[in-house]
Amino acid sequence: MARITAGIGCSHIPVLGFAHDTGKEQDEYFKPAFDGFNWTRKWMKEEAKPDVIILVYNDHASAFDMSIIPTFAIGTAEKFEPADEGFGPRPVPTVEGHPDLAWHVAQSLILDEFDMTMIGDMDVDHGLTVPLTMMYGDVEKWPVKVIPLAVNVVTYPPPSGNRCWALGEAIARAVNSFPDDLNVQIWGTGGLSHQLQGPRAGLINKEWDNAFLDKLIGDTQELRNVPHIEYLRETGSEGIEMVMWLIMRGALGKSTKALHRHYHIPMSNTALGHIVLEPEDSSVPPSPTLEGNNDAAQAMI
Ligand code: DHB
Ligand code: FE
Repeated sequence: MARITAGIGCSHIPVLGFAHDTGKEQDEYFKPAFDGFNWTRKWMKEEAKPDVIILVYNDHASAFDMSIIPTFAIGTAEKFEPADEGFGPRPVPTVEGHPDLAWHVAQSLILDEFDMTMIGDMDVDHGLTVPLTMMYGDVEKWPVKVIPLAVNVVTYPPPSGNRCWALGEAIARAVNSFPDDLNVQIWGTGGLSHQLQGPRAGLINKEWDNAFLDKLIGDTQELRNVPHIEYLRETGSEGIEMVMWLIMRGALGKSTKALHRHYHIPMSNTALGHIVLEPEDSSVPPSPTLEGNNDAAQAMI
């Protein structure tokens, strides 16, 4: 049986990808940011060793634009190439997908009443490749398969925090019903506080960010109820990326414990946040519809 064994939260600040790709990780400005990932890089390689990551991220008008804006999309392809964001694609490995698990998760989510968009061909931008770099460093091939799960947080209206948390719970139900033995991690990416434009550009809110990290730990579900306007007011216009972390948190079930945590400001215009969580009690509420719909699906095949 497949199982979600851990959740990781991580910002996706593009300049960290640039610093890695140009050999500047140890430069004075970047070192404190990268140092906070030393623990995780070792743990990923020596202990955690996931087979698959469900990587919740957002596209920044690289694969999608105003012609199509899926709220929640899942990548079902065999592979995903790094996107060209204006300076050529990042020199990092091609991302290998896991189509069997991705289609299983897509089916389970849809029968569980989350109307996913399935994407069979898409390039992935810094939102996905920078977190991979932070966790794995310099590799010839990513040592893991990745299912991209894209969330619209770029164009109003993004999904609510509560909907994101509930999607995470549905992802846990989906993974738990996949028959193959797979060690699956779920990542929530983006954030923390940042605003890239307008009079408040450069806004960072250390207190709010750290309270957010605190509330990902344990069994509180307080973050489900944070309205969009609070993210906007307290964490800047791009702080809304944090709702993606709630998908990760929801998928870890009733209670979590933190294995590692890192916060560094500023990095570019953004507060760099990182957390590694383990489920303490991974139970998620049952779905009112999934089982019945699964029975109907079996009958149709
Ligand atoms: C920055 C942060 C982001 O989340 C992003 O998508 C682009 C740029 C930044 O701080 O530079
Ligand atoms: Fe971003």
